[in-house]
Amino acid sequence: MKGIIFTEFLELVENEFGLAMVQQIIDECELDTDGVYTSVGTYSHKDMFKMVGKLSEIKGVPIPELLTVFGEYFFNTLSNDYPQFMKQANLFGFLDSIESYIHPEVLKLYPDAELPAFGSEIKNENELFLNYLSSRKLSDLAIGLINGASKYFNEEVNVFKVSEEDGGEKVMLKIKKI
Ligand code: HEM
Repeated sequence: MKGIIFTEFLELVENEFGLAMVQQIIDECELDTDGVYTSVGTYSHKDMFKMVGKLSEIKGVPIPELLTVFGEYFFNTLSNDYPQFMKQANLFGFLDSIESYIHPEVLKLYPDAELPAFGSEIKNENELFLNYLSSRKLSDLAIGLINGASKYFNEEVNVFKVSEEDGGEKVMLKIKKI
């Protein structure tokens, strides 16, 4: 997992709960790297799960909720750092381009990135289905990223999990305009 996910997560924790909370999480999780991450490095995604789990334990907030909040925050960073991927006309066009354009370009930049696969189907002008597929089981992060994109394009949507298989490796998401 690329370091940018770790650095952004720790930045969000610092903004919301302060540096002491960042330190507590690093101290109480047995991490591979002692909590030092660079945005271009690559680290075990298990470290990410340990830190999110620890924050959930300390704050009493469920892990899926934390991942969704983090996804929305992370989207702002991605859209600022990669303006070349934001040139789509609307939200559905953008979401449809993740699998066909954005993530393949990300892989060219970072060949060791571990990305989910998305099957997308635009049903009609109000409904899009995105079929999330990844052994990392981060569909809740995807929901947060979609929420961030919805704000970016100024198109309000609800995101639903229609079905979930293999413990979260395959999740069908329905994105419906409000
Ligand atoms: C500007 C747009 C985007 C860029 C540049 C981008 C780039 C990236 C990068 C660098 C990673 C980390 C890969 C790794 O850890 O090795 C990632 C992971 C991920 N991306 Fe994207 N992404 C973008 C938009 C989106 C959107 C809108 C979604 C939501 C549907 C999405 C879904 C995900 C998920 C869920 C992961 C976590 C890895 C996994 O589930 O296996 N991405 N992306």
